[in-house]
Amino acid sequence: MKKILITGASDGIGLAVARILASKDNQITLVARRKDKLEKALNQLPGEGHHLIEADLSKKDSVDALKEKIETEKYDVFINNAGVGMYGRFTDMPLHDQVSMMNLNITALTVLSYFYLSNSKKGDALVNVASNLGNTSYPGAATYAATKAFVINFSENLWWEYKSKGVYVVGVCPGATYTAFHEVAGGDKDSFPKFVMQTPEQVAQELVKALERRSKPKVVTGTMNRFMVFFQKMMSRKMVVNMMAGFGPLKDEK
Ligand SMILES: NC(=O)c1ccc[n+]([C@@H]2O[C@H](COP(=O)([O-])OP(=O)(O)OC[C@H]3O[C@@H](n4cnc5c(N)ncnc54)[C@H](OP(=O)(O)O)[C@@H]3O)[C@@H](O)[C@H]2O)c1
Repeated sequence: MKKILITGASDGIGLAVARILASKDNQITLVARRKDKLEKALNQLPGEGHHLIEADLSKKDSVDALKEKIETEKYDVFINNAGVGMYGRFTDMPLHDQVSMMNLNITALTVLSYFYLSNSKKGDALVNVASNLGNTSYPGAATYAATKAFVINFSENLWWEYKSKGVYVVGVCPGATYTAFHEVAGGDKDSFPKFVMQTPEQVAQELVKALERRSKPKVVTGTMNRFMVFFQKMMSRKMVVNMMAGFGPLKDEK
């Protein structure tokens, strides 16, 4: 039995991962902001001994409190999954909200990774949930896509830095997934082509498989998403940006 901490675990991908890992006899601690959703999620988990922590990880005080928990509880696996997006033209969206998104997607993930890895032992694992948008471009979500490019690059480098210590680090890149994420981001999940969409359970299965194999520094989920990454390597960046804009929230604008 392993002690596993998952942020953003009251819904979507985080909750799907928690369900799978709990069914494999692990003890899960779920982190998110809303207590009612956390309690509902906790009640869905198979097995016993699971916990919840209320925390808004876009705020420094909450990150500091979780950092202390990481130092005292010594989790075997830490999954940095909490993240939000924002859809729209850069200057049409409040700067304050974009900075708050950067605090969650980049600063909290970096700070918590620092304290987790500082206290890690051989056999531990750190999973950072990025996005396939961090591998490409996505006009209409410029700041969000850039936060996820950070997560990918950061995680790949940490994979190398900690492998000799027997600690596995991986950046997991889901493509468009059927969760509340898109609504919260001010967008519409139906705007994505159906053939790229995955369920949170499909993404969670691939994340857990990566955690069990402990091999790659980066995992892109979904065959179509892997194909997209491969295909775009053969295109110019100009073509990639123009093509991705055609799928994005600003596609009807000039
Ligand atoms: N869905 C997609 O298409 C997609 C694609 C690629 C990557 N991703 C990434 O996958 C991760 C999970 O997204 P999802 O699709 O599962 O989203 P989701 O269904 O909206 O779930 C987000 C989870 O994060 C929690 N959360 C949000 N803001 C938080 C904060 N400030 N502090 C702590 N917890 C917070 C939410 O609970 P509370 O609101 O109660 O805090 C919820 O538990 C994110 O990092 C996202 O960027 C998603």
